[in-house]
Amino acid sequence: MRGDLRTMEIMNTYTTLECSCTEQLPEEFVGDDDRFPERFVEPLIKEFSETGDVVFDPFAGFGTTLTVAERLGRRAYGLESDARRAEYTRARMTAPGNLICGDSKKLSSFTFPLIDLAVTSPPYPVRSVAPSITVRKESPGIENGYDSYINCLRYIFAQVRGIMKPRAKLIIEAGNLRSGGQVIPLAWDIAEAVSRELCFEGERIIKWDRSNFGFDHTYCMVFSRKR
Ligand SMILES: C[S@@+](CC[C@H](N)C(=O)[O-])C[C@H]1O[C@@H](n2cnc3c(N)ncnc32)[C@H](O)[C@@H]1O
Repeated sequence: MRGDLRTMEIMNTYTTLECSCTEQLPEEFVGDDDRFPERFVEPLIKEFSETGDVVFDPFAGFGTTLTVAERLGRRAYGLESDARRAEYTRARMTAPGNLICGDSKKLSSFTFPLIDLAVTSPPYPVRSVAPSITVRKESPGIENGYDSYINCLRYIFAQVRGIMKPRAKLIIEAGNLRSGGQVIPLAWDIAEAVSRELCFEGERIIKWDRSNFGFDHTYCMVFSRKR
């Protein structure tokens, strides 16, 4: 079938956003802030889910996805491996029992309801692959190298697929990393790996008002269950 590219339906693929969160983190987390902003998550949750739907984050962090989802009338569930972060996030949730402090590599061993939407940003392995950039969080699988980390994300997102309803979407926010002349195509490696488990529907480019790991933009990658 021939399509006229000028008249075909196009996705809105480009958004400019301020890269800051409204809520200040407690002193103990200063220097450890890897949240995405509420204003990034809110339109995604509104677009891809409805009131009463289940929204999930396998790397819940400080709970941006979960708390915004609850504020919008969704049921929020998640996993976070860091006990202090999980405690912080639970204290801000209306259904704190829905956040499990656990390892998303073992997602299938936990009980979650079927989900309508997952919105997440995985931990970046920057300490290992780009020593000139430092963050404090560890990344699953990175102890055996970058490829192992990417495979581990694939393994985790395959388990997310297992709890997705047929029409559910998975949205992963990730950027490429640039440091000291070296570029690690992290976002594209994640897209390629996760595409083996789910159907890649395209990306939206988020242009931030400041640099994030060497670039001023990240990708918001949308996946659906393979049909
Ligand atoms: C980029 S942060 C997510 C931040 C979140 N989007 C927010 O706005 O707060 C990634 C999170 O994944 C967590 N994490 C790392 N490995 C994990 C694992 N194997 N299972 C669950 N969580 C993990 C880290 O502790 C970190 O909080």
